[in-house]
Amino acid sequence: MERLPGFRDFYPEPLPHADVGSADARQFIFQKWRDVARRYNFREYDGPPLEPLELFTTKSGDEIVGQLYNFTDKGSRAVALRPEMTPTLARMAAAHERRFKKPIKWFAVPQLFRYERQQRGRLREHFQFNADILGETGPAADAELIALLIDALRSFGLTARDFVVRLSSRNAWHEFYEGRRSKSGGRADHAHEYNFFQTIDKLERAPPEESDKKLDALGFSMAEVSQFIESGKPTAELETILQNLAARGLSDFVKVDYHVVRGLAYYTGAVFEAFDARGEFRALAGGGRYDNLVKLISGGKVDLPALGFGMGDVVLLELLRARRLLPRFDSATDVFVLIEDEGLRPQSLRLVQDLRTAGYAVEYPFTATRPDKQFKRAQELNATRTARLENADYVRIRDLKTRQEIVAGVADAANHLK
Ligand code: HAM
Repeated sequence: MERLPGFRDFYPEPLPHADVGSADARQFIFQKWRDVARRYNFREYDGPPLEPLELFTTKSGDEIVGQLYNFTDKGSRAVALRPEMTPTLARMAAAHERRFKKPIKWFAVPQLFRYERQQRGRLREHFQFNADILGETGPAADAELIALLIDALRSFGLTARDFVVRLSSRNAWHEFYEGRRSKSGGRADHAHEYNFFQTIDKLERAPPEESDKKLDALGFSMAEVSQFIESGKPTAELETILQNLAARGLSDFVKVDYHVVRGLAYYTGAVFEAFDARGEFRALAGGGRYDNLVKLISGGKVDLPALGFGMGDVVLLELLRARRLLPRFDSATDVFVLIEDEGLRPQSLRLVQDLRTAGYAVEYPFTATRPDKQFKRAQELNATRTARLENADYVRIRDLKTRQEIVAGVADAANHLK
């Protein structure tokens, strides 16, 4: 039986094959994400991986709806595996909005599912670090989130030479769109505008003829769009965000780039995406303001401005591998308890138990095993030390690196390991 295409198995290191996921690398990434979220004072939340289909169909836009893993459950409910976290967050925040002091600063590390076309950097499941701020309208919150995004990437050892945050604005694009539309006498049409945003979003990835055709059909020319992108004039709001980041010493990590507009439908203000600096990989992260989503999802009951970003583990891993920034993941055996005298097995098990209670990672042979085999196993596990009972009262502890040995009272063994 093979796993489904686009899904990963996560093995402990050393990996049995180059084509499998690493549970150690995954844990390493999660820890960094959680640590940087803690430093920025974000609290962790989570929601169900399966949601009512409707949560995603009306708010996220066609692109994500086309990639949904959805089905009818045994209770005849239309359900979907979550393709993103933001609608769930909006639902959760709206449900108990009055109970939370604003601004709400929350993060999550969900596994998400999208039936994507198979390509490098895009799988059918991925983990995503989500950080969002709710209840704050000012650009200080946008800057705070971008700083968090930068620090999350820096915590892996990535520098301004490795990545860049491209900052843009749906407002700027909206103005551009409205300006041209009113000149040509077209009617205001939300779906039309979203189509236009999606075409801009794909500009760098789609063949130029295709984008040309689409823009033309929407009543725009590639020349005017290119000119707008190249002018790259930051809006007043983007200026404020840039100044805030400059005050933190983070200017080197951001640049205004109107190529970015974001594919999801709900964004309303500043938007941004992080990319590797050489442009070799797909986006590392993306996000922005979505001031109307909570209102939409709560049926107009709760009006909360919001903004956030998601950073996936797939492209991040590719980049960390390419820059050789992943540590070696060795097994963490602190002590291998050798049992050479089976008569001492009960006392040895007691020693194993005591050392584990004291917090050490302890291994020992399950069955009677030749001493040389036990020692080999301790070496394979990269154990720091071995411990062998001399008799019921004394234990011989050996440091496998320095080869120093000591004999200690059994009751005192844990202290001698310190
Ligand atoms: P997104 O741009 O769809 O945004 O995804 C964010 C990041 O998740 C991407 O930049 C990419 O690194 C990763 N990602 C997305 N799809 C895949 C995939 N199929 N395989 C591997 N990695 C993937 C959102 O999802 C928004 N909900 C983020 C957000 C949070 N906006 C506001 N708050």
